[in-house]
Amino acid sequence: MRVIVCENYEEMSEQAAKLVSSQLILKPESVLGLATGSTPIGLYQRLIENNKKGEIDFSQVTTFNLDEYYPIKRTNDQSYYYFMNEQLFSKVNINPENTYIPNGETKTPNDECANYEKLIKMHGGVDLQILGIGQNGHIGFNEPDANLNSKTHLTNLTENTIEANSRFFTSDEEVPRQALTMGISTILKSKKIILLASGANKSRVVSALLNDAINTSVPATMLKVHPDVVLICDKDAYTGVRLGVDIGGTEVKFAVVEGGKILYRSQFETEKDSADRFVEQIAEECNKIRKEYPIKTIGIGTPGTIKNGLVSASNLPFKSYPLGKRLKDYIDMPINIDNDANCAALGESEFGAGEKYENIIMVTLGTGVGGGIIIDNKICHGKYSMGEVGHIIIEAKNGLPCPCGQTGCWEQYASVTAFIRQAKTAALENTDSALYRIYKENGEKLNGKLIFAALDEGCPVAQKVFDEYIDWLVVGIKSLINIFGPDAIIIAGGITKQGERLVAPIRERVNNSDVAIEVSELQNDAGALGAAML
Ligand code: PGA
Repeated sequence: MRVIVCENYEEMSEQAAKLVSSQLILKPESVLGLATGSTPIGLYQRLIENNKKGEIDFSQVTTFNLDEYYPIKRTNDQSYYYFMNEQLFSKVNINPENTYIPNGETKTPNDECANYEKLIKMHGGVDLQILGIGQNGHIGFNEPDANLNSKTHLTNLTENTIEANSRFFTSDEEVPRQALTMGISTILKSKKIILLASGANKSRVVSALLNDAINTSVPATMLKVHPDVVLICDKDAYTGVRLGVDIGGTEVKFAVVEGGKILYRSQFETEKDSADRFVEQIAEECNKIRKEYPIKTIGIGTPGTIKNGLVSASNLPFKSYPLGKRLKDYIDMPINIDNDANCAALGESEFGAGEKYENIIMVTLGTGVGGGIIIDNKICHGKYSMGEVGHIIIEAKNGLPCPCGQTGCWEQYASVTAFIRQAKTAALENTDSALYRIYKENGEKLNGKLIFAALDEGCPVAQKVFDEYIDWLVVGIKSLINIFGPDAIIIAGGITKQGERLVAPIRERVNNSDVAIEVSELQNDAGALGAAML
């Protein structure tokens, strides 16, 4: 498969139009296989222009479309019949009798499919097939399925496709659940194939297409057996191979990433004493990885603040340390550095629970409360530090002291450390409770999981601690919602292993149907994935 990476959607459409136009110039009686969806619209616009300018002629062209919803009336403005007339056929000099689209009005879909196969054969097969690709890897409506049907057939659409299509219909009930589609073998019989992909939401599937072996769960991988396929995609769909480095207080994680897929990972223990030695170790690992993978960029997430390129982090040997500059002494390629919580938020926004939203706030519950703010799919940066959500002050009077120098910071009440402290206090005040027993058994090892074990025993003291902890969480979350108006709050950290048990009461008490409250999907990988995307 050849790959052409374009700057943007316009360039992708231009490249595709050049190839299709050449095909029509070389063979005016070509049989074209056409696709619908949002991706080929720019290509069709350019073909219309080329036809108007007299550069290409459609008068002898025959077309076969890949698919059509079933059942659907041709007059329905969401039918592919309607789409093709609007987007291409009515605007070029093609003979409508030479345009074929599976008939969504038929009462006998199986006969329609068999007949469609015959018609394609009668016309000598498809010379050049245009394809889009679904986020789930479908081509045409060949959905991921162990038993991919190979000829034109009636198929059930997957939930993922129904959801992706729902944006075109006014109500959910109207979205068709079935379709008539060329099969994989019908598509593979085309002499040439152009596959188009545009936008970040296709980057994961493009990466799977390029890196995975042929498999039926990404039907597009079947194209690998075809000798003449060209993938034309834009930069958002083809992110390239990147290296993300997530520096933490205990270990540094490296991830080679393509389109949200981790191709390789490694890690080593954080060097606590010498910043220069630490940088040498990081650079050595980066250079080792670069020998194995065609790395396009390196992104680094570090704890702490970054001011004029100088990093200061309390649990690392970085004190106003020029991290980027030092790394560049050893690594000869672009390196981007950002705060680790920002990176985690970016990772979650690009590839995790935040993928479907443009504005998210990531709240990480751990020793403290970390945060990252993504607005319009971009990290929000202040002058030198932003997203320190753990340090919004929620107790004006008699607030607990915080190592940051303030009192009453949110993380003193809503971190997991605070949750454990609250549980210990309650246990000591209620020595007949299950929580006290568990505390006595575990002493300083009391952790979030053990508090949930007390809850499992129906301990009312643990329940009260948990309810109050949720109240503290909700106070901060509500403030974040009021200030930033996000689509979603994504909560991360080990405690979120409790899933809905933690999130459902937060959702209930936040009580705002405009804001989704979800658990991080990427968890420990979010930082490295986000760093790679810097
Ligand atoms: P899209 O659809 O062009 O609207 O992204 C492509 C497809 O689902 O095949």
